Amino acid sequence: MLSVALLLCACVDKTEPPRTIMGADAERGLAAMQRVGCAACHVIPGVRWPAGLTGPSLRGFSDSPMIGGRFPNRPDVLVDWLIDAPAMSSETAMPAMPLTQAEARDIAAYLYTLDE
Ligand code: HEC
Repeated sequence: MLSVALLLCACVDKTEPPRTIMGADAERGLAAMQRVGCAACHVIPGVRWPAGLTGPSLRGFSDSPMIGGRFPNRPDVLVDWLIDAPAMSSETAMPAMPLTQAEARDIAAYLYTLDE
């Protein structure tokens, strides 16, 4: 069991810089998520309702090395994903969302506060 845990930890590149996003504001990101309804499909810590189950829970997302199991979890990749996931992965069930670049950056900043 211990060796499995060590193997999993080895996948996370500890040399990566912290995921700070210049000029982004996590509180604005939370408001934007409530406005466009991310919680219709996701459990999101900080959003009480509706906690939908179509997509994965975003609890602890900051600690995840991958987005959708396919893309590296980096700010620039996450912002693209939030705006237009189907453009990155044609078979994904995550829809394109009506977000500006600035809103997506704010949301990414919020998601990177979700560690465990
Ligand atoms: C119609 C349902 C739906 C809506 C609305 C939606 N998502 Fe998703 N989301 C999904 C699904 C389904 C996946 C899994 C996609 C995959 O793995 O291809 C996903 C994946 C994700 C992921 C990657 C999670 C992981 O663990 O890899 C993030 C982050 C995310 N969504 C954030 C958001 C945010 C933020 C919003 C609002 C701006 C949003 N989603 C709106 C359905 C949705």
